[in-house]
Amino acid sequence: MPVFSAHHTHDDLNVLSQRDDLGDDTPVLRAVTDARTDGYETICVPLTTDKWKARWRELCILNPDEEQDTLAEIEQRAEAWRSKPAFFRDEVTVSRLDEAECIIPLISDWLELDATDDWVRHDAEIALHQELAFASYLNAPCAILPTPNNRIQVGSYARAINACLSSVPYMEFSVKIPIYDAVTVVQVPSRSPSPVPSPVEPSTSRFSSASSNDLAVGSPPESNLTTWEMWDTIRTICGYNPRLTLTLDLTPPLPLSSTVLNQWLAEPVRYLWLPASTFIANAKGYPVLPKGTQSFIRDIFKLQPTVILSGTRAKKHPRGGELAYLQYVRHLEKTSSFMKAATTAGTVEHFAQGYQDYLQAPLQPLMDNLQSITYQTFEQDPVKYRNYEEAIYLALRDWEKPEKITICVAGAGRGPLVARSLKAIARANVEAFVYAVEKNPNAYVTLQERHRNEWGDEKVALLYGDMRTLNVPEKVDILVSELLGSFGDNELSPECLDGAMRFLKPDGISIPSSYTAYIAPLSSSKLYNETRASKDPKSSETPYVVMLHAINILSDNGTGISGTCGPRIQECWEFEHPRKDAALTEQGLPLTNSHNVRSAKLTFHIPHAGVLHGFGGYFEAVLYRNVGISIHPERMALISKDMLSWFPLFFPLKDPLYLPADAELTVSLWRLTDARKIWYEWYAEAFLPVPSSSVSSPIWKDSLSPMSPSPDSSFLSPLVSTPIQVTSPLLDVPHLTLQVPSGGASFGMAEDRQKEGVSLVKISQTALHNAGGKSSWIGL
Ligand SMILES: C[S@@+](CC[C@H](N)C(=O)[O-])C[C@H]1O[C@@H](n2cnc3c(N)ncnc32)[C@H](O)[C@@H]1O
Repeated sequence: MPVFSAHHTHDDLNVLSQRDDLGDDTPVLRAVTDARTDGYETICVPLTTDKWKARWRELCILNPDEEQDTLAEIEQRAEAWRSKPAFFRDEVTVSRLDEAECIIPLISDWLELDATDDWVRHDAEIALHQELAFASYLNAPCAILPTPNNRIQVGSYARAINACLSSVPYMEFSVKIPIYDAVTVVQVPSRSPSPVPSPVEPSTSRFSSASSNDLAVGSPPESNLTTWEMWDTIRTICGYNPRLTLTLDLTPPLPLSSTVLNQWLAEPVRYLWLPASTFIANAKGYPVLPKGTQSFIRDIFKLQPTVILSGTRAKKHPRGGELAYLQYVRHLEKTSSFMKAATTAGTVEHFAQGYQDYLQAPLQPLMDNLQSITYQTFEQDPVKYRNYEEAIYLALRDWEKPEKITICVAGAGRGPLVARSLKAIARANVEAFVYAVEKNPNAYVTLQERHRNEWGDEKVALLYGDMRTLNVPEKVDILVSELLGSFGDNELSPECLDGAMRFLKPDGISIPSSYTAYIAPLSSSKLYNETRASKDPKSSETPYVVMLHAINILSDNGTGISGTCGPRIQECWEFEHPRKDAALTEQGLPLTNSHNVRSAKLTFHIPHAGVLHGFGGYFEAVLYRNVGISIHPERMALISKDMLSWFPLFFPLKDPLYLPADAELTVSLWRLTDARKIWYEWYAEAFLPVPSSSVSSPIWKDSLSPMSPSPDSSFLSPLVSTPIQVTSPLLDVPHLTLQVPSGGASFGMAEDRQKEGVSLVKISQTALHNAGGKSSWIGL
């Protein structure tokens, strides 16, 4: 459940300090008591007071108009501070352990770790160390860091944070970042107290001229980056340190398109900063949030951030009072789809509590023998067995031959599909007999028990052994198996069923009749950190079974500017049973396993900038006719809602791959085999569409800007043109339109587009992962 925190400013604490009923309480302790009475769990307070700000400024921002002697004396004191940084008592708001355990400290937001002025940055970094060391002394588990404002110096900001991560152990640092940069940043607000230098000529002056709130002028185009990209730069420089988290500031208005915000769902959002100013008044005057913000907050609740409500005492809204904000956000929490699912028995979210983003090695059901508890977990899934029963029932109804029908359950485990086959036989009211094949000697004991107690010789015969070599007394009409992994074929269903086809009649039915593997490109800092947490390099080349949670699918359904991109989640390959193209030995076995080799090369459109950390792997199986099972994210709810048996597969990347907005990602994936094993190899390449040189005047223009002429402006596009909505590679918003002269030709074919004005420039690629199955394989 999300936790709530009340922000208290210096003024709030001052008001409290003047109360005459404080007794033994400090203002901070009283604020905590009051907040808890109101339903908050913690308070969020500035760690330092204005006195500290004044001293730091006096020492570190020099006034050039001062006398030389005075400057020298200040410099002496500044050096003394730099050599032994320490606070005076009245420079901090807390000093006791009992105070600190209930607060989220805010590091001084005036510290310019990204100032253009070298000296200011230098002294801000010393102060940052000092503040964090003090917060750590007080055992604060986490501190909120000032917002980086200056894109040009974001590297300096990140380097300073990284140094603190090394010098201050255990504590978590949470970078406060605005969720969205609504305006194209032409001018970057700077807190630098020094004159702003040109970007090519960095200043080393720490002499103040104008006010410290001056704006920087004429920022270079690098400023045109979204706030997410600032965060991405910082955490990358900090090596994805798991102690570095995010405080997402919801002060700015949100964009109309929510997909641009989804990238935050894959990040370590520890706090949501929600000021009263973000609320609007509803018709009755109560504070409510705009629709887009409501829906974003509902979505982000799945990450269970602490919500810090700020400015609620300012009486910004006519009705409801200061508690109305908290009540409203609690209502959003209760109505968020994740929270509803997580608290409803029978849903995947409820079943998977504690397994979210937890990496599990896939099963090796052929090489290993499963434990009874693993079978028990499978058997808790009502949906899988219901759909299997339905498929068997329909197959029995369709089987028109008069003789007694024979069914074989290949890989019977503890017998749930045998029991469902018997139910289907009873429902279909046909004469049928079931063979149950199992190679796990331990599960075979359970099968024998059920055979004796429940099924009997008239209905069921048990056969112990490997379906690939075992002799079954007669050929059967219906072969039922469930040898499927999260990626369909990754538990060797194709190879096992090749062997089992020996005892399926030529016109017999296989349930499942086919299964298809799908992938989607994912961003997830959590999964990236999990895979590299192990010192073993193999861990970054192993596909894992994971209940994917804090992830963002980077692709969309657009065809991309090249026109060659497929859908958001794409099909890799399919296996069908019985196989139609079989070349077999006399025993009815395949000569080699070559026919089970597969490869896929898929191209995805990446609409917004993001970091690729790996791929989600999913499957969908046709059991019989229109009955199936699916974990395809967009179809599972239609085909097998609330099925619990499979979490997706995650194919990790050793190194994150940054993808700019509108990149086109080509993913290659292979299923390979030798005599003893199968394995997957994967790699990806990223391309960026650019106007090709053959185009005389490709035009990038800002379609949202009032300054932009309309797309059909004859001034901008003298040729007949087809506008394609794209985003700038550097910037998610505003959307830009690439005017590609069409010459009247259709844009149906990718080649046409290439010819007619768009080229794809390669920008990066990953390593080949798991070459030769060196890190992960599945034994035959
Ligand atoms: C995923 S479990 C499914 C078990 C059961 N049908 C169920 O739905 O609970 C697959 C079962 O097939 C068995 N199995 C796998 N490969 C086999 C093979 N080649 N021959 C016989 N049994 C096999 C495994 O031991 C395991 O019990």
